[in-house]
Amino acid sequence: MHKAIVGLQWGDEGKGKLVDVLAQKAVYIVRFQGGNNAGHTVVVGDEIFKFHLLPSGILYAGKVCVIGNGVVINPTVFCDELEDLERRVGKDHAQLFISDKAHIIMPWHEALDKLTGKSIGTTGRGIGPAYEDKIGRRGIRVAELVNEQVFRQRVSEELPKRNWHLINEFGAQPIDEQELLDKYLFLAEKLKSHVAQTEYVLGQASPGYQIIFEGAQGTLLDNDFGTYPFVTSSNTTFGNSITGSGVRARDVEVIGVAKAYNTRVGNGPMPTELNDETGELLRKEGNEFGTTTGRPRRCGWLDLVILKYTTMINGVDSLAITKLDVLSCLDELLICTDYRIDNIVISKFPTTVQELERCIPIYKKLPGWKQDIKNAQIFQDLPANARNYIHMIESITDRSVDYISVGEKRDQLIGR
Ligand code: GDP
Ligand code: IMO
Ligand code: MG
Repeated sequence: MHKAIVGLQWGDEGKGKLVDVLAQKAVYIVRFQGGNNAGHTVVVGDEIFKFHLLPSGILYAGKVCVIGNGVVINPTVFCDELEDLERRVGKDHAQLFISDKAHIIMPWHEALDKLTGKSIGTTGRGIGPAYEDKIGRRGIRVAELVNEQVFRQRVSEELPKRNWHLINEFGAQPIDEQELLDKYLFLAEKLKSHVAQTEYVLGQASPGYQIIFEGAQGTLLDNDFGTYPFVTSSNTTFGNSITGSGVRARDVEVIGVAKAYNTRVGNGPMPTELNDETGELLRKEGNEFGTTTGRPRRCGWLDLVILKYTTMINGVDSLAITKLDVLSCLDELLICTDYRIDNIVISKFPTTVQELERCIPIYKKLPGWKQDIKNAQIFQDLPANARNYIHMIESITDRSVDYISVGEKRDQLIGR
């Protein structure tokens, strides 16, 4: 069965780790949306890998990794990440293809994101502006980048307009055309051999070969279903695994990944946020600092109003709960089951951030376990209170928790 791994909160749920482990049995690992705003961590022994653009299955020789049409690609990041990987592990990694239909992040996208993204708290990687141009039908695609004549033409059409904006709207420095061309054409030569019509690569795959769709960001950062406008500029949910890759794989198991508590980087409301020493403790114990930007992540209690909503939207079949070990530091744990707004109890996730800001979480209190669980191998190894915590998640979301992660390493994963 194929697998789609999607984040159920605000990103950084531990998708990279799960993809890396599950990739052992797969042949294709596919990124279908987002770009290098993502930061997916894979820990193998003492080695830590942080992937922004490369799929998290890249470490396995003999597999095929695909960066699909739905992704926005920064060619510098692509080449740097691949070179860095090859410096560390050699060329013995998965085969790597980039869709010729994926859009390119241009220097003006990064510049605009840095100038305009502060109120949302974006990663500043040019993701939003690149997707705006894609939808606006003025983007530049990989197929154009690797055709020198076409690329020169497209840059000569776009750059004067972009420079006009940078100068007149923001008082910023214009982008030098020759420098841009030199840099991008150099990168185009380097990445050319990876470019393919990846919908054919996947569409003609043998039916017996498993595909893993690797989601980036999380459902509450989805452009439609997230906490708009404090979201990213792509659909992060399962539906986009089809559009963003061009393959309608049959029999896909959707695995929703959720942290055992909540975190968020960037702006926008989070009802269960803890602005106190418990929040500080979670940040410290969970090492909650952004993989891409290094920003401290905001921490809070697990919110099941969110998980009920996000499991529904993605059609989640089973859950993976990560970082359960981090909760070992607490005497008691709170789980949000509903919200109260103007003294009315609601269990649906509100549409507007104005409503969400007024939501007061209703909590269930559970006893902690105060014991190291990082070596637990099977569910029965976990203390009773940790098992109860998992059972509570299962009963309220009506989904089984099939994976429990108790540490960052590959073998710190309990499968049930
Ligand atoms: P992703 O964006 O969803 O792939 O997640 P990130 O890699 O941005 O953030 C997850 C962080 O938690 C990384 O530093 C992982 O190494 C780490 N991690 C993943 N699973 C666990 C776990 O079960 N326990 C602990 N303590 N750390 C974990
Ligand atoms: P992974 O794949 C956590 C957040 C940013 C900001 C908002 C919009 O590692 O889970 P953008 O640069 O996308 O326009 O920023 O989305 N954000 C993430 N937060 N994990 C991510 O990716 C994120 N990618 C974007 O912090 O709030
Ligand atoms: Mg991340």
